[in-house]
Amino acid sequence: MRLANRVAIITGGASGMGLASVFRYLDEGACVVVADFNETTGAAAIAAATAKGYADQVSFFRTDVASEDDIANLVDHTLSRFGQLDIMFNNAGVGGAIGPLTETTVASWDYTFDVLAKGVFLGIKHAAIAMRAAGKGGSIINTASIAGLSGDAGPLVYSAAKAAVISLTRSSAVELAPDKIKVNAICPGFIATPLADGGNPEATQAKFATSQPWPDYGRGEHIAGAALFLASDDSEFVTGEEIVVDGGLTAAGPELSRKMPKTSGRNARVSGITKGSTGEPPEVKRL
Ligand SMILES: NC(=O)c1ccc[n+]([C@@H]2O[C@H](COP(=O)([O-])OP(=O)(O)OC[C@H]3O[C@@H](n4cnc5c(N)ncnc54)[C@H](O)[C@@H]3O)[C@@H](O)[C@H]2O)c1
Repeated sequence: MRLANRVAIITGGASGMGLASVFRYLDEGACVVVADFNETTGAAAIAAATAKGYADQVSFFRTDVASEDDIANLVDHTLSRFGQLDIMFNNAGVGGAIGPLTETTVASWDYTFDVLAKGVFLGIKHAAIAMRAAGKGGSIINTASIAGLSGDAGPLVYSAAKAAVISLTRSSAVELAPDKIKVNAICPGFIATPLADGGNPEATQAKFATSQPWPDYGRGEHIAGAALFLASDDSEFVTGEEIVVDGGLTAAGPELSRKMPKTSGRNARVSGITKGSTGEPPEVKRL
């Protein structure tokens, strides 16, 4: 039991990778507050947890992460229901603004940043207040994205907001380190969740299974595993870090082995040394 006697909040905990993390944390002994905008899926999450025997360990709190009052009330609810707060997983998200830059409205920019960036800021702020007051340290985990690391892995405003989450993670990790409060981010790649599947999970799973070097599709459980590591004592001394969980997608970069398959990668038909513009001949053999 890696999270025995720990209390966690998971925002966006009613669906996808948040829901997978709820069950991973419960299985590891934590008490978990599922904080979500959607009361219908929230009730379903609690029913599923209750059916697995976790009724005493779990609670739902309807939350809009973009509302400071909601986040403050969420932390109060957690302290009064379970007595402490050790882990804050700021994970709620939406796709937000889509479409070309020149068609993007300020309203769609504001909505996207309210949920994805302000929501994470508020979660860090109010968790830090409670954790500092308790004086026992803590772990804050923020869901960013590979979209925040590159220019073409998500919609434009979404990517900017996720880059803000990465920056917030680093700055707040520095500020909260003296209190032994870790702050880390997870950058998922393509994960087959309701957010990504457009109501067609099977087609999305098939597409995502070939979207990165790892020969399988990304699942919420893959993110839950990283979130467990960051929540547990195994990650003591890890702070201000972003952990990429993407099956090698960003590692692959420009995918030379796909574009030049004869000379690059595991299926190349030659092997040896090329010597560029030195005037020296290459030493290459055919395979
Ligand atoms: N699925 C992917 O491929 C992928 C990739 C990178 C990052 N992410 C990020 O992972 C996180 C989780 O996404 P998911 O794929 O599990 O999606 P999901 O839609 O399955 O779950 C997201 C949850 O967040 C909740 N939510 C949305 N807005 C909210 C608000 N204002 N307040 C409270 N709750 C709110 C939703 O109701 C939902 O339950 C998000 O931050 C998302 O941006 C997803």
